[in-house]
Amino acid sequence: MKAAGNQKLQLKAAKSKVGCLSLSIITFVVLLLAFCVLLFFRYNTWFGNIEEAPYTTPPFIDRITLTPGENFMSERTVSWRFDTIPHESRVEYFRVDTLNTDTLLLNSAVIHEKIKSRAGDAYYYHARLPKLEEGAAYKYRIVSDKETTKWIDFKMPSSPDTLRFIYMGDVQDKQGFVSDSLFDLLRKKEVNYDFIAFGGDQIERPMDSYWTIWYESLREWAGQVPFVTVPGNHEYLKGITYRLDSRWIAQHNYPENGPEGFKGKSYYIDFPLMRMIILDSNTIHWPHAILKHYNWLEKTLKDARQPWVVVMFHHGVYTVRDGRMHPFMRYLFLPLLEKYKTDLVLQGHDHAYSRITTKISGDTITPVYVISNASPKFYRNGFNPIHDRLGSGISLYQKIQLTQDELTYKSLFFDGEVYDDLMIKRTREGEKKIIDNARNQAEVFNFDGFGDNPKGIKKKDAYLQAVKERKANRPEN
Ligand SMILES: [Fe+2]
Repeated sequence: MKAAGNQKLQLKAAKSKVGCLSLSIITFVVLLLAFCVLLFFRYNTWFGNIEEAPYTTPPFIDRITLTPGENFMSERTVSWRFDTIPHESRVEYFRVDTLNTDTLLLNSAVIHEKIKSRAGDAYYYHARLPKLEEGAAYKYRIVSDKETTKWIDFKMPSSPDTLRFIYMGDVQDKQGFVSDSLFDLLRKKEVNYDFIAFGGDQIERPMDSYWTIWYESLREWAGQVPFVTVPGNHEYLKGITYRLDSRWIAQHNYPENGPEGFKGKSYYIDFPLMRMIILDSNTIHWPHAILKHYNWLEKTLKDARQPWVVVMFHHGVYTVRDGRMHPFMRYLFLPLLEKYKTDLVLQGHDHAYSRITTKISGDTITPVYVISNASPKFYRNGFNPIHDRLGSGISLYQKIQLTQDELTYKSLFFDGEVYDDLMIKRTREGEKKIIDNARNQAEVFNFDGFGDNPKGIKKKDAYLQAVKERKANRPEN
């Protein structure tokens, strides 16, 4: 009897095991099928690249770009593109000295390399200009065996005590008309800045035609004003091996002080008042890149001796576009930014506006996180109350000024109207106090890209309701 009972129990246990196994197999097959369906519909979004149209690099010097070296006060790099065959070249430059007509003409050695893209190739050149003097004006020109450019002017910062710069989030203008007119407004209005920073997605896709649009809208700026840029996802080729456009490093030649394997993409620049750390967040997906960047960022933040630290990357730690999230930036890199007391974090990607201050035990402190957009392309924002200040359907730029004890931050429309206004003050005890001058200013929600179909109309109604609720809870009321 007992043996028969045991047999029954064993049979029951075996049946249950088979049942569990079947359930696991069914779950696995269902998940696999769901993944295949998702892959089928999302393949192009995740892995597809628009084909790049064949192009021929012109046989003259173009795309002249000025960037800073590691030491902003004394180093500049000039990069340019020129032809599909190599040319003997050099950069001539001199300090403009109105008191001395016998100017010293300096020469800088040039490095060149052939860069291949998907649809063409070109020779890219660059020259480092070291030991430049504070407050001095310089002229330079590129001399080659075939062509000599006109003299181009640039100025070194006049004082180590004040630093002014402009920031722009995504520019990403397919046709270039909007960015050209916005840049033109800035060129006419803003004269007091030491450099311009761009938070990635300067162009629509990694294609030569879009780089042409980019350089056409920059006009003379590119060779005269130092640019500090970070790659965005639109400068990357999608695929299993996610690759930065081959032109990107060659046309900027940033300092090679980034993490091993990512030099020229992630880097830092030192100013007397600020360390600016530029991190290519596009690569923060795979363990190797995460580990390298994590260790490098920690060391670079820890070693900063300047009174202010600003970090720039493309993907926001707290996203503002509805439904978006970058878990590694949010849960791995944000704690580092907080731990080492970063002051300002400049981001893009979401094509809307957000400014967040850090709140701990009732205090409003740094880091301040900013997401901004200067593109004609807009996304719908979310309404998480963590955002101190939001905006949608608007193009803005930022003016940031630093002295030893104050960082002033303004977000402006390109016609000059102020949209956000913040000051970070260092107290005698070394604490940083935030003064929010835009607390009582109304927010702007102009996003209207919902479409006319019933689904779009429903989404629009929900969005307008969320705007209403946000306004009801704001101090401007
Ligand atoms: Fe973008």
